[in-house]
Amino acid sequence: MTPVDKSGTFTLGGDRSARRLGYGAMQLAGPGVFGPPKDPEAALAVLREAVASGVNHIDTSDFYGPHVTNHLIRKALHPYTDDLIIVTKIGARRGADGSWQPAFSAKELTEAVHDNLRNLGLNVIDVVNLRSMFGIHGPGEGSIEEPLSALAELQRKGLVRHIGLSNVTPAQIEEGRRICKIVCVQNHYNVAQRADDALIDELARRGIAYVPFFPLGGFTPLQSSGLSDVARRLGATSMQVALAWLLRRAHNILLIPGTSSMAHLRENLAAAELDLPEDAVTALDRIGAHTSAAA
Ligand SMILES: NC(=O)c1ccc[n+]([C@@H]2O[C@H](COP(=O)([O-])OP(=O)(O)OC[C@H]3O[C@@H](n4cnc5c(N)ncnc54)[C@H](OP(=O)(O)O)[C@@H]3O)[C@@H](O)[C@H]2O)c1
Repeated sequence: MTPVDKSGTFTLGGDRSARRLGYGAMQLAGPGVFGPPKDPEAALAVLREAVASGVNHIDTSDFYGPHVTNHLIRKALHPYTDDLIIVTKIGARRGADGSWQPAFSAKELTEAVHDNLRNLGLNVIDVVNLRSMFGIHGPGEGSIEEPLSALAELQRKGLVRHIGLSNVTPAQIEEGRRICKIVCVQNHYNVAQRADDALIDELARRGIAYVPFFPLGGFTPLQSSGLSDVARRLGATSMQVALAWLLRRAHNILLIPGTSSMAHLRENLAAAELDLPEDAVTALDRIGAHTSAAA
């Protein structure tokens, strides 16, 4: 049994069993998620170590690099084991200057799915998230009917097994569920950023996975005296405590912490073995309580 096994599993779409502690590949691209990494061999080693440690859920996108993280995943791990679930996202493209631009037309989405298939070396992608670009700093309202219908068509053609949504509002998830089955939602959430509290519970009731991006705070990793106090008391690190809190928060939460560092990867995966006592959970719950829509 690996430490990752202790995180438990969640079945995506009724047929793909993901260990709840996974890995997000975005940090493997160059600075600003643009261009190649400084040390490609180190990036390949991180991917191989994640899978060797029991990770079977990897989050990626062709707009990381662009194409860089998908090429690294293919080089490190292809041919893939049957149980490996690679989840990608479409809906954006990168400008020559590294900017992030919406790419939401049916033509762009179709090209994006074919690019992901080719760059990952797959015939079918397990899960494709449609990444909404309506909001800049968070989800914004707007209909996703047209792009999601285009993605559902690619699913009918057999190129995509399951569909998820990213950076979306509850209204967009409802709209999406009228168009096709939604198996996961990927939004910004962590111990200090809990706007989706009510949404997570609603998705849990419906058997839909919730996959927080920036689980460790993203480009500005979490810093909180509440977090470090608990970490010190438990002999763990703040990042391990932040991940353990998410694992405990709801059974439908799947984690994809990102790192380019082997030491950080090992540290993060060991979080599956960390038991949080009740008083620690109470203290951690207070950190982001003011950001919770349920507050
Ligand atoms: N759907 C979306 O719009 C969206 C947006 C952003 C990200 N994502 C996905 O979500 C995944 C996770 O997000 P993320 O990687 O941006 O953010 P994250 O997991 O919250 O944090 C990553 C940052 O924390 C650092 N870090 C990781 N482990 C650490 C540790 N043990 N100690 C100290 N620092 C540590 C990393 O630096 P080092 O490399 O130095 O460890 C990196 O700077 C991404 O990989 C991507 O797949 C999706």
